[in-house]
Amino acid sequence: MAEPRARFAVTVDGDEVTVSAGQTIAAALIASGRAAWRTTRLDHRPRGVFCGIGVCFDCLVTLNGQRSVRACLVTARPGDEIRSEGGPGRTDGDG
Ligand code: FES
Repeated sequence: MAEPRARFAVTVDGDEVTVSAGQTIAAALIASGRAAWRTTRLDHRPRGVFCGIGVCFDCLVTLNGQRSVRACLVTARPGDEIRSEGGPGRTDGDG
């Protein structure tokens, strides 16, 4: 019988969200009902997960004050402070 995963809290734009141990930041955002958490620089179009493997840079967040972290590659940790990103996100294109 599978053991239940430990759960802990992070914040997303100031709101507390419960995360299961082992979830990526992107998985935690999706599980909390968010489909998009960034906008493109030129057209301000919403972006969330596209590739899920670190290639497209659509999933950028600010994590614990560090901008442009790929949410699909980073495992959530207790107390993480996640912020959505408007505007450019990465600096090398519209993405
Ligand atoms: S979803 Fe493509 S880099 Fe994260």
